[in-house]
Amino acid sequence: MMFPNLFSPLKLGTVEVKNRISFQPHLTNLAVGNLPSERQMYYWGERAKGGAGLVITEEMSVHPTDMAYEKLIDVYHAEVIPGFKKITDYVHQFDGKIFAQLNHNGQQGDGSISRLPVWAPSPMPDVLFRETPKEMEHEDIEEVARYFARSAIHVREGGFDGIELQFGHSSLARQFLSPLTNFRGDEYGGSLENRMRAPLKFISAVRKAVGNDYPLGIRMCADEMIPGGLDLGQVQEICARFEASGLIDFMDLSIATFYNLYLVEGSMHTPLGYTIPLAAGVRERVKIPVFCTGRINDPVMAEKVLANGQADMIGMCRALICDPFLPRKAQEGRMDDIRYCIACNQGCIGRIGMNKLLGCVQNPAVGREKEWGEGTLTRANTRKKVTIVGGGPGGLWAAKMAGRRGHSVTLYDKNEALGGQVLTAMKGAGRDEFGVIIRNEKEQVHKAGVTVKLGVEVTAEQLLAEKPDVVVVATGSRPKEQPVGGADGPSVYNVWQVLDGKTELGEKVCLIDYDGHHRASATAEFLANQGKTVHVITSSLFVGAELGPTQDLYLTRQRLLQKGVTFTPDIAVMEVAGETGAKTVKGFNVYSNQWDEWGPFDAIVLAMGQKVDDSLYHSLKGKVGELYRIGDCVAPRKADMAIWEGHRIGREI
Ligand SMILES: Cc1cc2nc3c(=O)[nH]c(=O)nc-3n(C[C@H](O)[C@H](O)[C@H](O)COP(=O)(O)O)c2cc1C
Ligand code: SF4
Repeated sequence: MMFPNLFSPLKLGTVEVKNRISFQPHLTNLAVGNLPSERQMYYWGERAKGGAGLVITEEMSVHPTDMAYEKLIDVYHAEVIPGFKKITDYVHQFDGKIFAQLNHNGQQGDGSISRLPVWAPSPMPDVLFRETPKEMEHEDIEEVARYFARSAIHVREGGFDGIELQFGHSSLARQFLSPLTNFRGDEYGGSLENRMRAPLKFISAVRKAVGNDYPLGIRMCADEMIPGGLDLGQVQEICARFEASGLIDFMDLSIATFYNLYLVEGSMHTPLGYTIPLAAGVRERVKIPVFCTGRINDPVMAEKVLANGQADMIGMCRALICDPFLPRKAQEGRMDDIRYCIACNQGCIGRIGMNKLLGCVQNPAVGREKEWGEGTLTRANTRKKVTIVGGGPGGLWAAKMAGRRGHSVTLYDKNEALGGQVLTAMKGAGRDEFGVIIRNEKEQVHKAGVTVKLGVEVTAEQLLAEKPDVVVVATGSRPKEQPVGGADGPSVYNVWQVLDGKTELGEKVCLIDYDGHHRASATAEFLANQGKTVHVITSSLFVGAELGPTQDLYLTRQRLLQKGVTFTPDIAVMEVAGETGAKTVKGFNVYSNQWDEWGPFDAIVLAMGQKVDDSLYHSLKGKVGELYRIGDCVAPRKADMAIWEGHRIGREI
């Protein structure tokens, strides 16, 4: 067995979990009418089917004053029980255990949905929600404790195997524990003993409600990572005291707060396994099982953490959103089949943060497991000859899905390697992990029996001569040639040319950012890393305007500033002009309408949009029985849409 520790059982209170992999709590937005839904049943069930020993649900709201997100489950209503029973029965079919996470978000919410004031230890607005809460009175604290207890009874009656109380990054309990958010002068504030009083009340109420034989744990923030906040030393002490209460069976750990959300779901710029030392630190102080979570996306790393005694349970959230079957594949030694999460945050937290349904760039089946999950792919009735042109993410997915359905598939790409635009995008500073989305699929395309022809720029005539039944055009997009006046002048380049090393830039470079995403900022950083003096002019309020939801904004801007990159926001760029070494940019401020000119620069780099590469599609139109186009050659977007469309077409043809 490759992973003896990972696939050994663990007791959490009275329950034995078959292995050390926990699908960690996360919002899905899949609830309907604030009740558990069938979609959630299939969503969580898929991860149990894929081999996770434990599934922990998303946070569920224990009190009406906590409606931070519109689609939370209101667990304090008894109406949740029938839906819970369906979910827990389904998960149990796969020999998995399922715990419910209970939460009150405290100040980390607002009253716009509930139409009630938010409650918190002190009347201090949260940094994201910015609403001043009501300072909780003693009876409010008692009421929340009662609601925790009542919610716990619904969970137990709904067939869950245990409960986790969210005392971590986004919780009322953390706000009581932390000197950052608790300024009370009564017995709930001040000393550590006082700050622990309300959280201990919540635990005691739940323990009393569910009895001593029922698994109960807490999720703790292992380190708030802010000066003046809780650090590991203080959290070790808190954990030891919680354990000493004798009321809890396990300690699940997260990290950070809404002040530094980029650490809660660390993106690809954050090292793999970034919280391991914190888990190890807590484990030194307590005897109950400790969970470690944070970019552990690989069974090899997971096994090491367990073997080193740094944690007892491995929490995987995004790794199993991306590949629900990672545990089973690891157990069977099918490491090449694992679809590794790349921490791009675009489909998961990036969508949840915008109040959309949970998704994943690399897994179109997220939230649609009933229709698209494991076992739903059927063989095609007729084996067709399918030609796919373009081996970027969309083409690869179309080829894989069509091949798996038994079609005879040929995939062409003009380059010598599969990957399309990803091969260039991954050269941006810190973006190399983006390339994993291609590595993940290459082997699958091969296993699906697809014939891959590289280095062939196939023409319409050649294709038609092969008499395919179906052609899928996935030829992508390329940077616009003339997005602004003067773009055809000397020393003006696009980001692709820069990242592919096809430029002579000189020292002083101006990058024009109409993108707001990594295409612009990762290129600016790529240039700064080469020691160039980089100035970015953007039409947005700030550089990186699209990076907030993916948790990349803070660190990207921090790195750019540390590397000397300067910014001018709010500019509509109308012209680039001048000779090499004396390039200028002309434009006007979108608010004041005042014209200005910037320069001189040695070169200008444009991140000003893409245009479709659709000539092959138009030459084939009307000449092939079934002709489709997917991804950027329809309209330039991002990899998630190319994969979505490739997946869908591969299922349908
Ligand atoms: C979309 C999304 C929603 C989340 N919601 C919750 C939540 O409801 N409760 C919670 O304790 N953690 C939540 N988290 C944090 C995760 O449980 C986990 O700590 C974090 O994603 C880091 O783990 P990973 O690197 O394995 O993804 C959420 C994470 C994501 C990606
Ligand atoms: S969207 Fe990106 S970060 Fe989120 S689960 Fe999928 S691959 Fe991982």
